[in-house]
Amino acid sequence: MRVLLGVTGGIAAYKIPFLVRLLKKAGCELEIVLTDSAAKFVSPLALASLNHKRVWRDADLLDDNKGFEIPHINLANWPDVIAVAPCTANSIAKFAHGHADNLLSSVILASGFIDMPVLIFPAMNANMLDNAATQENIEILRERGAYIIEPEAGFLACGAEGKGRMPEPDEIFEEVMRAAVEDHDLLGCNVLVTAGPTREFLDPARFISNPSSGKMGIAVARTAWRRGADVKLILGPVTPPQGDYSLYGFEVIKVSSAQEMLKAVIENLDWAKFIIKAAAVGDYKAKEFQEHKIKREKQDDIVIELAKNPDIAAEVGIRKLRSQILVGFAAETDDLINNAKLKLERKNLDYIMANDILAEQGGFESDLNNIKLISRSYDDIVELDGTKFEVADKMWDVLVSDKL
Ligand SMILES: Cc1cc2nc3c(=O)[nH]c(=O)nc-3n(C[C@H](O)[C@H](O)[C@H](O)COP(=O)(O)O)c2cc1C
Repeated sequence: MRVLLGVTGGIAAYKIPFLVRLLKKAGCELEIVLTDSAAKFVSPLALASLNHKRVWRDADLLDDNKGFEIPHINLANWPDVIAVAPCTANSIAKFAHGHADNLLSSVILASGFIDMPVLIFPAMNANMLDNAATQENIEILRERGAYIIEPEAGFLACGAEGKGRMPEPDEIFEEVMRAAVEDHDLLGCNVLVTAGPTREFLDPARFISNPSSGKMGIAVARTAWRRGADVKLILGPVTPPQGDYSLYGFEVIKVSSAQEMLKAVIENLDWAKFIIKAAAVGDYKAKEFQEHKIKREKQDDIVIELAKNPDIAAEVGIRKLRSQILVGFAAETDDLINNAKLKLERKNLDYIMANDILAEQGGFESDLNNIKLISRSYDDIVELDGTKFEVADKMWDVLVSDKL
């Protein structure tokens, strides 16, 4: 994917090298266009080094050694996506009113906003943002088809607090990835995903759980979001996921026990078109929760009686409408396909993602997975393997082609 990254003269430009790293790591081809003001906030040499190529500067617009190459036209015709981050009030005004007095504004004008998504990340002091001039300019750009990613509220570099912060590089990265998807085939679809383990407390200090990292469910949520879906993620207790597994863009509902997860699922069931149950829900909980910590001094051996937890997938299977699609996961150690088929029937699922957790590739904490996707009709068992993101994306290919 080809990304043209415009950087303008806001203080948040100091974060852009991190964005360049993320885009490069994801395999993007990148051209970077800096305004002269931007070059005062972030080192052109650092950006060129990270991108392994020169950066483009204002001087390139009318350079008589390069003029015959017409850099602003070539650059405007090259990318799949344009992103300007941070975007100053000044540059927003230029883009909105068709100025072309530096390289970046000329590229934006020449891109025409037609053949590729143009993402603008305004970042500035809260009063500059609130000013009617800036707001009207933003509105003009929005009406012409630019994607305006609203700045966040918080502590601003100028010392004030308010709205105007540029999103973090990993959030900008996600917006670029979403914009770059050619066919947003889940646009308008509501997707409810469960992920992670559950915890069943025995006493205030101890619980039964499992090693689920939540990665597979987050990958399902992320790939749906990139394809245009609105996503709610019901997430069991996991250490805050990092890097590729960010939660940006989702409505996250944090839960702990299976009972809490069931409640959250039922509360959001009417909203969802797709319900993807990737959480590793504990099958059992302590029959009786001990209000006070079980003291080791008082007894050598203890017996804890367990009681069955609610079966969330089966509960959804009973309640779901015909228009809703329910996908379950089966983590098995024996007779994978038959056990998965039984589970699909018993719980009234539309699809099951069967996963041999003893297989070499995949499993709880891994970034890879190997899944057999079985549909209700059993006509096909589709093998999905690769990274958890690749597996999730291939799952959506199947669901979208069958069900939309
Ligand atoms: C320390 C400092 C920080 C600035 N931060 C911002 C900012 O965050 N957002 C903004 O719109 N302008 C900011 N400005 C003002 C812009 O740098 C100025 O408007 C400049 O002309 C923008 O040029 P450009 O849009 O061509 O990059 C800042 C100026 C200074 C001196």
